[in-house]
Amino acid sequence: MKPLNPPLTDWHGKTAWIVGASSGIGRATALALLARGARVAVSARNGEALEELAAPHNEAGQPPRVIVLPLDVRDAAAVAAAHARLLAATGTVDFVLHNAATYDALRADAFALETMLAHQQVNYVGALNVLAMVLPGFVARGAGHIAITGSVAGFRGLPKSLAYGPTKAALTNLAEVLYVDLHARGIGVSLVQPGFVDTALTAKNDFRMPALITPDKAAEAMLEGWRRGDFEIHFPRRFTFWMKLMRLLPYRLYFPAVARFTGL
Ligand SMILES: NC(=O)c1ccc[n+]([C@@H]2O[C@H](COP(=O)([O-])OP(=O)(O)OC[C@H]3O[C@@H](n4cnc5c(N)ncnc54)[C@H](OP(=O)(O)O)[C@@H]3O)[C@@H](O)[C@H]2O)c1
Repeated sequence: MKPLNPPLTDWHGKTAWIVGASSGIGRATALALLARGARVAVSARNGEALEELAAPHNEAGQPPRVIVLPLDVRDAAAVAAAHARLLAATGTVDFVLHNAATYDALRADAFALETMLAHQQVNYVGALNVLAMVLPGFVARGAGHIAITGSVAGFRGLPKSLAYGPTKAALTNLAEVLYVDLHARGIGVSLVQPGFVDTALTAKNDFRMPALITPDKAAEAMLEGWRRGDFEIHFPRRFTFWMKLMRLLPYRLYFPAVARFTGL
C-alpha cells in the first residue's frame, strides 16, 4: 500500500525542530534523531535541561549539531524569535514536532477555568504558534514534515481528562485537516498517539498504567512510523489496539465500558 506521507528514511543533512524536548518523549526523540544523523533544534522552557542534552553532541569550533532554543510555547513572540534564530543557524527547517504539553487530572465536579485554559494554551495554542512559523516556509518549498503529539486521551471522553482530553482531540482534528490541505503540496503530516509512557507527565497518575513503555521505546516507534510514512503513529499497539476499538463503539456501549475498565 502507498504510504500516506513521504517516508523519512534518511535523516542525514535534515534539520528537525523538537518543541517540548527537555524531558520524556521529546528528549528521547531528539536523541534518537541525532543518532540517525539529523541536526536537531530543541525547545522547551527548561534551558538548563536543553543545554545538558546538547553538550555531548556539540564540539567547539564546529557548527552545533544540537541548537538550543529555550521558549515558552504559549508566547508567540518567543516562538517567532526561536524560529528566526533557527533559520539564521541552519537556513531551513525540514521537520517539526510539536510535543509540548501540560497535564493535570481534572474532573467536572472540580471544574477550574484556569486549569482548562492553561491546557488549551500550551497543548493547542502552542501548536498554532509553532505552525504559524514553519508553515509558510514549508508551503513555499513544497516540502517539510509537521508532526504533532496527540494522545489516546483525545480519542474519546475519559475520566480525569477534562482539561487535557479536549486539547488532544483538537490536535487530532488539526492534524487531519493539515493532512487534507498539505498532502498534495508534498508536505508530510503525522499524528503521534502514545498510550502510556513513563515520564514526568504520567508520574502524576495515581492508577496502574497498562502497557507502560519507556520514552526510548516511544521514540523508536515514532521513528519507525515516520520511516514507514504513516499518518497516525500509535503505540504500544497491545494497548492502542483496544483504545482504537473502543473508539468505534456506540455511546450506549462506550460509556459503560469506560466505567467498567476505569472503575470511575
Ligand atoms: N507520557 C505519556 O504516557 C503520554 C501519553 C500520551 C501523550 N503524551 C504526550 O507526549 C508529549 C510529551 O509528554 P511526556 O510524557 O514526554 O511528558 P514530559 O516529560 O512532561 O514532556 C513535556 C514537554 O513539554 C514541555 N513543555 C511543557 N510546557 C511547555 C511550555 N509552556 N512551553 C514549552 N515547552 C513546554 C516540557 O518542557 P519544560 O517543562 O522544560 O517547558 C517537556 O519538554 C506530550 O504532548 C504529552 O501530552 C504522553
